[in-house]
This record gives sequence, structure tokens and C-alpha cells, in this order.
Amino acid sequence: MRTPLVIGNWKMNGDMVSNEKCLSDLLERVGPTLETGGIEMGIAAPAPYLFQVAVRLKGRAACVWGSQDVSDEGSGAFTGEISAFMLKDFECGFSLVGHSERRARHAETNSVASRKIQRLIEAGLIPVLCVGESLEDRQAGRAEVVVCEQLREALVSMSDDSASPIVLAYEPVWAIGTGKQASPSDAQQMHAALRETLSQRSDALASNTRIIYGGSLTASNAAVLFEQPDIDGGLVGGASLDPVSFASIVALSQLSSVSAASTSH
Ligand code: 13P
Repeated sequence: MRTPLVIGNWKMNGDMVSNEKCLSDLLERVGPTLETGGIEMGIAAPAPYLFQVAVRLKGRAACVWGSQDVSDEGSGAFTGEISAFMLKDFECGFSLVGHSERRARHAETNSVASRKIQRLIEAGLIPVLCVGESLEDRQAGRAEVVVCEQLREALVSMSDDSASPIVLAYEPVWAIGTGKQASPSDAQQMHAALRETLSQRSDALASNTRIIYGGSLTASNAAVLFEQPDIDGGLVGGASLDPVSFASIVALSQLSSVSAASTSH
């Protein structure tokens, strides 16, 4: 069984005061759910607020925090960059890599994503690799080819063992921030294709890797997506800024894992 994971990606939102309120409302709502176990919740905060988030989440059951990006360099004269070891110093558990907003605006290619993944693994952090097709790719019938290629190229220089901590996030670009989401069957099909791509490397990598869905995920559509056998949680943008919605999405991931466990017995 893969432990469901729901990560809130705050993107470039928030400030000290609103973050504090958001975190305390969220923890009040989600604390009992997390304490019953079987799921994990993460927050991908803007870098200046990582410490604030760390202070609030530290010591809490099943909570992780992480960055939205990381440098592909180790250390040195790279003004403005943040290294994987610095993230480790702030006790981050993960970093997003290859988010479509960074691919589109900061020329983050698959090979840059690959180097970032290696830096994170060297530092002992979990890379959350984001993959996803554009609307054009989907309409041209090449969504699966594009997305599986993003995965293959990002893992190209890694052994199966070193790739094993990775989490994948399937985020169709056309679904991000648009209010449109992949249908449960289309999302399931893509997650299964990603798992199949991983199985070409190793069966263990395929069966252990968590593949989470992102793109206009809300408390109203999460349940049916989380019911799909290859969807192991969510990467939540807009709805993670509202503690009520985000706590509901986290709770729904737990319900779906409980029902999956009971049907597998
Ligand atoms: P939305 O949930 O706002 O569509 O954002 C998804 C996303 O990009 C999470 O990384």
C-alpha cells in the first residue's frame, strides 16, 4: 500500500500574518485526521516562509514541508538560487521540480529537472517531479507520449535505487488554475501510463512510487479522483490557500485509502 500524500502548493501567495492564520486553522481541522495515520500532508511554501511553516508543522504527525523549487547546482556563485542542502537545513522533506509554471516561465527543461532531482536525492530530500501536457498536446492525441517522455528524461541518469524516493505529480497544464480538471478516467489512464513507464525501470519502483494528481483539485472533485487505483493523493494550488477546503481534501484522501484497503482484503 502506498501512503496517500496531499501537498498544498501555495505558489507566490501569503504573508506572515495570513500564513499564521492559515496554518493554525488548517492544523486545528486536520490534526485529528493526520493523527489517525495512513496519510501524509505537505506544504510547499514560498522560500522566505519555509521557516515559519517549519516551526508550525514540526513535531506534528504526518506533516512535511518543502520548497517549490531548488537549484540544480550544489553551492557557490549562483545569486538568488537555493540549494538542496539549504532546504535540508530547514528540515524540508521535499521540493517540487519541473512545475509547469517554471517550465513555461523559467526554461526548466527535462534535463534541468533531472539535475535538480539528483541534487535533492544527494541531500536526502524527496523530489516531487511535476509532469503534464499542454492543451495542444492533448488535442493532438500525444498527451501520454509527452508526459511519459518528461518522466523518462528526468530519470535518465539515475539508478532505480536512487530514483526510489521520488514522488510524481501529474498536472495537466490546461487544468492548472482554470477550474477544469482531468476526468477521473483520463487521469487514471495517465497515472497508469506513468506507472507503466516506471515499471520499465523496475517493478518495485512502479509499485512503490506515489503518483499524485494536480490541476483545479477541490473538495468537490477530489473524492472521485482519489478513488482511482493509481491516484495516490493530490497537489493542490488554489484550494490549499483555504484551510477549510484543504483540510477536506486531506480527509478525502484518507477515506479513499481506507476504502481501498478494505476492498483489497
Ligand atoms: P490549482 O489547484 O490552482 O489548479 O494549481 C495546481 C497546481 O499547479 C499545483 O501545483
